[in-house]
Amino acid sequence: MMSLPLLAPLTVDDLAEVALIEKASFTTPWPTSAYATELTTNRLARYIGARIDGALVGFGGIWLMVDEAHITTMAVLPANRRAGVATVLLLELLQEARRGGARVATLDVRVSNVEAQRLYRSFGFAEVGRRIRYYDDNGEDALVMTTAELESPAQLATEVKLRGQVLERSARA
Ligand SMILES: CC(C)(COP(=O)(O)OP(=O)(O)OC[C@H]1O[C@@H](n2cnc3c(N)ncnc32)[C@H](O)[C@@H]1OP(=O)(O)O)[C@@H](O)C(=O)NCCC(=O)NCCS
Repeated sequence: MMSLPLLAPLTVDDLAEVALIEKASFTTPWPTSAYATELTTNRLARYIGARIDGALVGFGGIWLMVDEAHITTMAVLPANRRAGVATVLLLELLQEARRGGARVATLDVRVSNVEAQRLYRSFGFAEVGRRIRYYDDNGEDALVMTTAELESPAQLATEVKLRGQVLERSARA
């Protein structure tokens, strides 16, 4: 049976592993100091890590801004991709968003990052706008995506279905 990742809030003890995943995942990685600030001083931030056999394989975070949860980052170690790790993380982050009182979740994603967009669309995120030349490194636009109301039957059904698929896949593998 393929092991499902174990989820836990990220702590400063995880930062060395976060840096490895960050470097393997982004053209302009966030410095470790930025994550340290997020974890220790940003009271709006919630970061969750996913571990398999003790090793950090992915993480994601949100900012809880009153009625909106903004997904700040999401990354999975290349060797562990396409196994549902980001799906498990996003399911938990959206639950955390609901617990925190968010009505909707939003995010920015590079227009070229069709893989991540596919992940987000599977969660019901839809494009609502574009930030022109948002990314400094290559002048690329960002798509702004948002969920339906997090408590809406359609959104809840989407997440229940995804949760079922993840469990089914882990039982089969
Ligand atoms: C985007 C990312 C987080 C996805 O992580 P993951 O654990 O591989 O995602 P999952 O296995 O949960 O994938 C869920 C679905 O997303 C879509 N998806 C994910 N990666 C994909 C890829 N490389 N190609 C096409 N679709 C993809 C698929 O629909 C997939 O479902 P399927 O595998 O049943 O077809 C990972 O590829 C990553 O870390 N990329 C680099 C960092 C990044 O771009 N982060 C997002 C910034 S906004």
